[in-house]
Amino acid sequence: MQRVQDITALRQALDAVRQRGQRIAVVPTMGNLHDGHLSLVHEARRRADFVVVTIFVNPMQFGPNEDLDTYPRTLADDQARLAEADCDLLFTPDTADIYPRGLKAQTRITVPEVSIGLCGGSRPGHFDGVATVVTMLFNLVQPQLACFGEKDYQQLAVIRRLVADLHLPVEIIGVPIARAADGLALSSRNSYLSEEERQRAPRLQAILNELRSALLAGQPPTEVLDNGLKQLVDSGFVPDYLELRAADLTPLRAESREAVLLVAAHLGNTRLIDNLVLTLPCQNSH
Ligand code: PAF
Repeated sequence: MQRVQDITALRQALDAVRQRGQRIAVVPTMGNLHDGHLSLVHEARRRADFVVVTIFVNPMQFGPNEDLDTYPRTLADDQARLAEADCDLLFTPDTADIYPRGLKAQTRITVPEVSIGLCGGSRPGHFDGVATVVTMLFNLVQPQLACFGEKDYQQLAVIRRLVADLHLPVEIIGVPIARAADGLALSSRNSYLSEEERQRAPRLQAILNELRSALLAGQPPTEVLDNGLKQLVDSGFVPDYLELRAADLTPLRAESREAVLLVAAHLGNTRLIDNLVLTLPCQNSH
């Protein structure tokens, strides 16, 4: 596996790959790789000839009081795991190369509608940061396809929308959530949890599963969500949001069948997110 930090060297390496007629896949990450990231790399490997992984802790997507400075940086381990996963090229740019004029002067991408509410509500500007850096990475790598995890459900919707709106020739692949044996969705931020919090954390998914059963049994969504919030609080979480939306993230309508339950909640100082896609029975949507 080749590691490249410099933009010119990246372009040269990838020009050679394109000249060989190979299909390029990119997996954008912020590092501290876990099995969820590796499942993205495996999917990319399955679908393309040449796999690029990027590691860049993107300052533009962090709010002023968020964990940019403490975000786990584990490059040596990440590199070893990627080499084992048969990644071809690792791109680890410096912030000064990605944002040479600084963040304030940087051109930004704003994706309307899908960026609003949910994580976009509690993390203002977050999705502008994600959309800007992902667009930039697509321009640098010029991949045929890109893999993203379904745990970040809204992020995936934002990226699909930006690709459609800007007519970018990149196929976006959503990869199912990777979970620990006890059900907790894998996330780099799980490393912030204390031992006691880590034991409690799988309740997040368990509660979503219970809410799905209630919805499938025909209980009205508002009742189900009120009950879900109560259960989150009783389990020691401080809920940020718990919502049921149509699968495309528009508000749930009477005729909506494909839906998604989305949750974000704090456990101590750690913010966790999860989601569950479901098909509502007809009586639930009336
Ligand atoms: O999901 C992430 O790790 C980041 O938001 C991404 C897509 C790499 C953009 O910085």
